[in-house]
Amino acid sequence: KKKLMIHELYKMKAEGQKITWLTAYDYPTAQFAEAAGMDMLLVGDSLGMCVYGYSGTVPVTMDQCIVHSEAVRRGAPNTFVIGDMPFMSYQISDSSAVYNAGRFLKEASVDAIKLEGGVRVTSRIKAIVEAGIVVCGHIGLTPQSSGQLGGHKAQGRTVESAKLVIEDALAVQNAGAQMLLVEAVPPEVTGFITRKLHIPVLSIGAGADCDGQLLIVSDMIGQFTAFTPKFVKKYANVAEVITNAMKEYVADVREGRFPTDEYCYHIIQGEEEKFQE
Ligand code: KIV
Ligand code: NA
Repeated sequence: KKKLMIHELYKMKAEGQKITWLTAYDYPTAQFAEAAGMDMLLVGDSLGMCVYGYSGTVPVTMDQCIVHSEAVRRGAPNTFVIGDMPFMSYQISDSSAVYNAGRFLKEASVDAIKLEGGVRVTSRIKAIVEAGIVVCGHIGLTPQSSGQLGGHKAQGRTVESAKLVIEDALAVQNAGAQMLLVEAVPPEVTGFITRKLHIPVLSIGAGADCDGQLLIVSDMIGQFTAFTPKFVKKYANVAEVITNAMKEYVADVREGRFPTDEYCYHIIQGEEEKFQE
């Protein structure tokens, strides 16, 4: 498998070939995704919920994002990997945003970074792009600022709100971002944005009328059980598979069915007598 470059993602948009994108937080999952032919991976700050059990993404640190990005890069060396900038890694100043974006490239060899916001982060996007880094914007429902949004709520469902989402999309592209993720907005709004922008537009919970799709792996394979958003299609029930395997192991050990002889290392032949002493 050959790793995609940004110009190939543009080509896919031009040719109407859908881009496939999934989150990953660890080495094995990254391996599986690469074997499955995934175009891109996102080391999302959703790792706060999916890996660490936080109730949101706000507590996630740069160091956590870097460690997980390194693991994903090792598991998927030939996949386009995007590092997700956690809360407070880019809000403070352009220079700290550039510094933290650069850490993703220097320490975890990612191909691009993603940050949340439209109009309000244009100066951050410009600064990071000027440093030579590929940026993916993220608008619509932006979980790091869900407090301001009044919770994890879909955006752009009224004309007034849709206008703001579209303004954000244009601002992200004008600032120099080379990709845009739109989260939880109506498909009509996503379609309008996709036709308006020349950069690839990807959807998570924002319908099919765009250049590609993203899902959170833990939702999609049924590993994260606390809740499942409306837009998630569950392709497996890994939680059930793992829990059942563990239940069987518990029962086997308690009832003496494991380990049987086939799982034991025996004394090397000819050594048995010496063990008698
Ligand atoms: O962190 C993440 O996985 C994300 C998606 C929810 C879009 O940013
Ligand atoms: Na995120």
